[in-house]
Amino acid sequence: MNTVIGLIAGSLRKESFSKKIAWALIDMAPEGFEFKIISIEDLPVYNQDFDDYNNVPESYVKFREEIRSIEGVIFITPEHNRSVPAALKNAIDIGSRPSGKSVWNGKPGAVFSNSPGNLSAFGANHHLRQSLVFLNIPTMQQPEVYLPHINKMLDENGNLNDKDTKDFLQKAVDAYIEWFKKNK
Ligand code: FNR
Repeated sequence: MNTVIGLIAGSLRKESFSKKIAWALIDMAPEGFEFKIISIEDLPVYNQDFDDYNNVPESYVKFREEIRSIEGVIFITPEHNRSVPAALKNAIDIGSRPSGKSVWNGKPGAVFSNSPGNLSAFGANHHLRQSLVFLNIPTMQQPEVYLPHINKMLDENGNLNDKDTKDFLQKAVDAYIEWFKKNK
């Protein structure tokens, strides 16, 4: 059986660059591993009242189940106003609750950030890491993955066509798998 690693893109946008990176990563999984995209699209904004057993939205149940079923997670995040996009933070919060029942605990992680500009969503990358520390997601430190000018790295069909970026991502994936094996 393959070890399943979740890929979570931090954007709801149909033509999201982050989603396109996630699709490109699927083919980079080494033997024995499967990379599976986990959607954060249908998650209502977290409200602590939903922790009540009778109130919990069906989409929360499904999302938490999906996170439970993966063994590690790679976040592919853009940046909104120098921080983590609200949709991604929302998904993280949903997975962290009810208190004491977080589905994130101990799953080795990585953060790959990207932007059309040249700062590569550095702010989002590091704000996200702050939450991952609290959630006990041991997160790969090296290589750091910052992808600038991501809009220029994709062709008209949305495929990642820049060889250097692909090679770098493959190296980052390989390093993540090593990290995963040591920290699972
Ligand atoms: C942005 N964008 C952006 N980019 C960046 O590098 N730093 C930032 O702080 C922001 N802030 C920001 C706020 C909001 C509300 C939006 C909608 C956008 C631009 C962002 O990088 C661009 O829209 C990306 O294409 C978003 O990622 P996806 O959806 O392509 O994955």
